[in-house]
Amino acid sequence: MKSHWIAAAVTLSLGSGIAAEAFAQEKPENYIRFRKANQQVVSWHMRQLAPMVKGQQALDVAAATNAANVLAVLAPVFATGFPAGTDQGDTRARPEIWSQPDKYKQAMDRYIAESSKMLEAARSGNADNIRTQFGALSKTCSGCHDDFRKK
Ligand code: HEC
Repeated sequence: MKSHWIAAAVTLSLGSGIAAEAFAQEKPENYIRFRKANQQVVSWHMRQLAPMVKGQQALDVAAATNAANVLAVLAPVFATGFPAGTDQGDTRARPEIWSQPDKYKQAMDRYIAESSKMLEAARSGNADNIRTQFGALSKTCSGCHDDFRKK
């Protein structure tokens, strides 16, 4: 008898685990705030790298690595901000995010990969690597915004 209850509890908790992946558990407006806050912090750290990439500021490998580390951490975190039901409200997310999930996932996967390569490039301390990788990462930003963010 007791084992039935345990089995039922396990089934229930597995079920809610799956639901958490597909549907917003937080209020949709909180997801939208979370997405914007994430991107604001990402944008801030891109702006810390930009003057070093453009040669307006001497390359400081420790500072560049710190900034790139934040970018590498926040990219996969951003990917968790788009559960079903978070497409309405004060958001610039386009409906294509949910109607073309495979295409969106590709854009997100590229972004995550290039963010992680940005961290490797910063750690290398090589100015050319850093500049090239900053360009590659920036392309994933504008590429995704063109297709999936409202103007
Ligand atoms: C895979 C898609 C994708 C990638 C890659 C991406 N973004 Fe975004 N970004 C979005 C979407 C979608 C929004 C709109 C979020 C919303 O309003 O809910 C957004 C919003 C923003 C905003 C506005 C935030 C606000 O306060 O409204 C900034 C700034 C931004 N992104 C910067 C960046 C930068 C810099 C990069 C690259 C380092 C980047 N994004 C990469 C999809 C992406």
